[in-house]
Amino acid sequence: MAQLAKIDVVSIEDLQTSEIERIFELADEYSEELARGGQITSAAGLIMATLFYEPSTRTRLSFESAMHRLGGAVISSADMQASSAAKGESLADTVRVVSSYADLIVLRHPHDGAARVAADYASCPVLNAGDGSREHPTQTLCDLYILRRKKGHLKGLTVALCGDLKFGRTVHSLIYALARFGANIVAVPTAGMDVPRYVLERLASERNYSFSTVTMDELKGLAGGLDALYLTPSAPHQMALFTGDEDIRQIPSAEPPAALDAFYVTRLQKERMTGKEINSSEYVRFDARALKTSRTQAAVVMHPLPRTNELAYELDSDPRAVYFEQAAAGVPVRMALIAWLIENSEPPGRGARAVAVPIRFKGETLPPRCANANCISRFEGAYLRPRFTLARGADSSVLALKCDFCERELKIEFVGHVRSRRYYRYDDTLQGYVRQWIEEGSLAVFESVKQAEESGYEPYKRGPQRDIMKADEVARAVDLLADQMIADLPDLTSVSMVGVISRGAILALRLRDLIESKTKIRPPCAALDVYSPADALNPIDGSDEFNVEGRTVVLIDDVINSGWTVQRAMATIWRRGRPAAVKLAVLIDRGHRAVPIRPNYCGKNIPTSRSERVQVRLAAPDADGKSKANDRVMIYSIVEPLKETEPAS
Ligand code: NCD
Repeated sequence: MAQLAKIDVVSIEDLQTSEIERIFELADEYSEELARGGQITSAAGLIMATLFYEPSTRTRLSFESAMHRLGGAVISSADMQASSAAKGESLADTVRVVSSYADLIVLRHPHDGAARVAADYASCPVLNAGDGSREHPTQTLCDLYILRRKKGHLKGLTVALCGDLKFGRTVHSLIYALARFGANIVAVPTAGMDVPRYVLERLASERNYSFSTVTMDELKGLAGGLDALYLTPSAPHQMALFTGDEDIRQIPSAEPPAALDAFYVTRLQKERMTGKEINSSEYVRFDARALKTSRTQAAVVMHPLPRTNELAYELDSDPRAVYFEQAAAGVPVRMALIAWLIENSEPPGRGARAVAVPIRFKGETLPPRCANANCISRFEGAYLRPRFTLARGADSSVLALKCDFCERELKIEFVGHVRSRRYYRYDDTLQGYVRQWIEEGSLAVFESVKQAEESGYEPYKRGPQRDIMKADEVARAVDLLADQMIADLPDLTSVSMVGVISRGAILALRLRDLIESKTKIRPPCAALDVYSPADALNPIDGSDEFNVEGRTVVLIDDVINSGWTVQRAMATIWRRGRPAAVKLAVLIDRGHRAVPIRPNYCGKNIPTSRSERVQVRLAAPDADGKSKANDRVMIYSIVEPLKETEPAS
């Protein structure tokens, strides 16, 4: 019985060009063999598990059919809601267990980067059957296979990608592959659904490839006959599409491509939309007229399916409509992929692709949280540490990191050195140091000064410090906050208090004790950690349950400045449920808001300059009188390493 080597196909880029060619060769052989009705036993004795956390028709059934046709066996969890995932089992545990039942796992998952995590934890190979909006490499194999069969080759083809290019994972994998095979891409996104920046950046950095984007209207212009499509001479993949005579700039020696070779139309990925990205009535609708012009009449129409409204049924009888052939290719192509895995399990095997080594965040220095709310690292935080590599980044005033799971860029404003426990505002003159700290494993990164200070870091240098509130004033301000809340909140029994860790949580407890002594009502209290990779909102009064649904939530923090912390805290609260109202209580309001948030209850307004820091010292409610006497609010200025000569305002 064949034993598969651990080769994971998470991205289409995990397959080398020669390997894709070999897979197509095998797919040709299997297509013929299937047509002959031959008996195939290449995968006899092997078991494939299909784990689908999202709906699927083609991908799962063609994978399963492929495995059966190869003489192998299939175990399947087509609806993970019927598996232990519904009981909260982690992805890592699921794939670890399933790898002991199967020789190969095919996974579909709603979160970006899930296939990477599964591949890391499964002992058998993992094939990505779609992970969130990131990639769908085996669909690309089917797409390329049919495109090549229709056109004879891939190099130099011109392919228009239409519709939802933002969330369409099939499109992302296809773009990487078309770039690799030397095809020209014209992106025709529905407004607001452009190819994401992380995809463009990967193309630019790994393949030195770029393409231009045209609007739906320009595409319609092309279909209506106002067609002019040019390749620029300097960059063979740069393309410009002009629709009116007045716009046409003749590019000397540029060869206009004879025609468009393919339209690749996609469905609006509604299930991935977070809000009002677009209204579906603005979405592309593709019909037979698009194929009537001299430049489009030889084009094939492709679609990964399922279609919704974007592709007229009238096209189905047109020989240029090849989407059902793409779907049918699912069986021989996936047979070929499995057979290729079997081939490669025999020595000498294959060399693995070189990958960037993630930055090590040592000890208690936390890696930052990925900025992408759909990243798998945001959902599997119990065991999965966020992982980043250094990104190129266009903005020199921030340190750009790339999430190793979902590839999204994270911009870091503050960096720290773990041994000196100093933090700095990032600026590209620190680049050399930061690289060295990464090598030594001594880099810490912070999203804000608040986080740096919460982590026990001091500014690189601080100016003189002065007290602006002493213990008695702090106590009066806290008391004032409690009175404001009591006066404003008609029903304290429906109030839940949420303190932002760490001083916001202490303040919440002190406010709660004051409210209780004044009204005999003791609202439940929870602490919220805005920097935890997982959503962290936990009760701090010993009770197990903390509800926000239908409650009046009072969010409490010591200082409000830009408002980002509050915004993030609100997002965490809303993920827990729908409160009837959210109110904000802060001890100090510094001004400088970057988001439109205003505290409902405020202990004191202290206007400050941007280079100043306000630091609050606040003893826990059960601390002794001596510690409480040390409560104070201090202000100092942060001296930036490169601006030391500037006076601290
Ligand atoms: C696609 C998918 O799931 O990403 N379907 C498929 O696998 N053929 C495309 C889609 O759902 O729109």
